[in-house]
Formats: sequence, structure tokens, C-alpha cells
Amino acid sequence: MKKILITGGCGFIGANFLNHFVPKMPNVTFVNVDKLTYAGNPLSVASLESRQNYHFEQVDICDSDLVVATFEKHQPDTVIHFAAESHVDRSIHGPRDFVLTNVVGTLNLLDACRTLWTDFAGKRFHHVSTDEVYGSLTDEGKFLETTPYDPSSPYSASKAGSDHLVRAWNRTYKLPVTITNCSNNYGPYQFPEKLIPIMIINILERKPLPVYGKGLNVRDWLYVTDHCDAIMTVVQNGASGETYNIGGNCERANIEVVQTICDIVSELANLDKGESRDLITYVTDRPGHDFRYAIDATKVKTELGWSPKETFETGMKKTVQWYLDNTAWIDGVRSGKYRDWMDKNYSQRGK
Ligand code: NAD
Ligand code: DAU
Repeated sequence: MKKILITGGCGFIGANFLNHFVPKMPNVTFVNVDKLTYAGNPLSVASLESRQNYHFEQVDICDSDLVVATFEKHQPDTVIHFAAESHVDRSIHGPRDFVLTNVVGTLNLLDACRTLWTDFAGKRFHHVSTDEVYGSLTDEGKFLETTPYDPSSPYSASKAGSDHLVRAWNRTYKLPVTITNCSNNYGPYQFPEKLIPIMIINILERKPLPVYGKGLNVRDWLYVTDHCDAIMTVVQNGASGETYNIGGNCERANIEVVQTICDIVSELANLDKGESRDLITYVTDRPGHDFRYAIDATKVKTELGWSPKETFETGMKKTVQWYLDNTAWIDGVRSGKYRDWMDKNYSQRGK
């Protein structure tokens, strides 16, 4: 592995991946290919700009000619594909961009690898995917790699489509691929449209904390650098053609998550805990809202030796502290487009 092309390296997980590995791996060159949508922020990787082993290219992966030209220019031996439209609520308001980027964008990358890698030895296409492709669990059971796909939202359907393409390129063309399906991430640089950053920022600003439905939906939370370590482990040691589920074994109902954030933010920012919890406001539910996600990560643990380092409590404290220390980053992402989205999404949710 000498040159890795990372797609979506200015987004939440991609930026954490690059900030984590570029300084640690000076003998590997990282090429960050990102369109810079509303969710892509060059500020998140600003500290890497002066490094010899880091390059940035502004590329829309839906533009197949530009994808091919970028491959020809940089000649990567490894691709780690993070780029996606990633927010479920946005996919409900406007599904088209999700199909274009998540399905057609993935097709363009797979085809660039298939046609430009003349020899597949030492090559790897790694696809970063989600547990949402498996649909919704009841109170029982966990997702295994063999769980049938049953996506609920336009977002998860588009990610399911991209997973199928990746497997098909392996079976049909023998392209060396791996896939990881991960549960909910949290940590630094997460765009404030997702549950955890919205709650942290609204508590600090003493604004209502919008909890969908009754707040009883369950997610399995993982600190973002634990996810990044899992991806690197799979890229380096995972077998081609294999899928690995990644999760934190950390199930929490949304209301518990929000209450925990209220308490941690109040403690670290010197605010009244009771007043923070009083901001919790139950709002109209997300259509098609999956009830529960839970990952069985036995395969990646036993076969590849990965396990998470952070607990929910340690990871959440680090996350809150990061948002407290990085108000310039928060101000930077809260452009006019961000305010338009907040108005559109939350004005339609009656209490
Ligand atoms: P994000 O929305 O924060 O970032 C997405 C990045 O992709 C942005 O930098 C954006 O500019 C870029 N991008 C979007 N469309 C593009 C295009 N057409 N061409 C090039 N770049 C484009 O997403 P994230 O939360 O960092 O998620 C990264 C990946 O991980 C996604 O594939 C997502 O499905 C997957 N995933 C996310 C989570 C999670 O909890 N966030 C969990 C499991 C899997
Ligand atoms: O499971 C992995 C997935 O996790 C990733 O594939 C997605 O890219 C990522 O966005 C995330 O999807 P979710 O829909 O689970 O994340 P979100 O932060 O949007 O919502 C988490 C839970 O909180 C969900 O049950 C909906 C609820 N919620 C969300 C928001 C934004 C609220 O109650 N209020 C809110 O304002």
C-alpha cells in the first residue's frame, strides 16, 4: 500500500481518518478526492496541507471523465471510498442526489479501478458502508454480515445499491474489494445536522433539543477513530470479497443519548443540568424511522483482532470538549445553506 485515494476526505469520517493516519504513515501518500458539498469542509483537514504525503483534488465522483483523469494522474494502488450523501432526513426531502452520488459515483470509481488497474495484484477497493442497509431490528437480535438487506430510507437504499455493485465487481471482474458496514459514529468534525452535534450546539445556545417521536429508537454508537482503525485493519488484513460489520456494542435509546449530552455539556460548560434537560422537545417523527440498529462485530474482532478503544462516556466527553474548543469550525459550517436546511427540516416537525 503506497498510494491511497480517499474519497470524501473533507467529510466527518474521512477527515478523522486522514487526520489520524496521514501523520502516522509518512511512507504512504494520501490523495483526498472530494467535491466539497455542504458536508465537505477543507477546514477539517487544514493541518495536513503542508505535509508531503497529502494531496487534495476537488472532484465530483459523478463525473466519470474527471474520476478517470484523477486516477491517471495519481495512480493509486488502494481506494477507500467514504464519499456519499449521508443524511437520512435530507434523503427524505430530496432523494436524487443520494442515488447519483452513492450509486452512480460508486459505479464510476469501481469502473476506474477495473479499467485502469491492469494488474489487480496488491490492489484494493474498500467501500465504507452502513448498518442501515439491513433495515430495522425489533428488541431482539443483532445484524450479522449474512443478515438480508432491507433498507428503509432513500439513503439506505442507495447505500445498499452501492454495496451490491461493489460485490458484483468482485464476483464478475475479480476486482479485489472489501466492505465495512458500520453503526452510528460520533466525534469531532461531524456536521451539525446529525443528532449529537445538533444537541451539543443547541444546549450551548439554550435552544430546543428536537427529539423525534418518543425518543425510544435505539442506535449502536461508535467513536469515529475506532471506526477509522477498523477500516484500516480491514484494508490491510481483510480478505478480498469479504464484508465486516463494525459496531461499538453500545446501544442507547435516543432520549438516553440526549440526556447524557445535556449532563456532559452542562458539566464541561458550567451550565445548569436541569435547565439543559428542560430544553428537550418531542417533535414529529421521521417517516419510515428504523426502530433499532445493533451490530454483531464478532467477525472483525475474532478474524482481524479489532476492538474499540473508547467507551460511550469517554468518547462523548472528548466529543463535547472538541465542540467547545472549536467554535470557529462550527461558525464555518453554519453558512446560509445550513440555516436553510435547519428551517426546512425542523419547521415541518410539529411538537
Ligand atoms: P459526510 O456527509 O460527513 O461527508 C461526506 C463527504 O463526501 C463530504 O466531504 C462531501 O463533500 C463528499 N461528497 C459528497 N458527494 C460527493 C461527490 N459527488 N463527489 C465527491 N465527494 C462527495 O459523511 P460521513 O458521515 O463522513 O460518512 C462517510 C461515509 O461513511 C459514507 O459513505 C456513509 O454512508 C458512511 N457511514 C457513515 C456513518 C455515520 O455515522 N456518519 C456510519 C456508517 C457509515
Ligand atoms: O447507522 C449508521 C448511520 O448513522 C449512517 O449510515 C448515517 O450516515 C448517519 O447519518 C447515521 O444515521 P441516523 O439516521 O441514525 O443518524 P442521525 O444522527 O440523523 O439520527 C440518529 C437518531 O436520532 C435517529 O434515530 C433519529 C434521531 N434524531 C435525529 C435528529 C437529527 C432526533 O431524534 N432528532 C434529530 O434532530
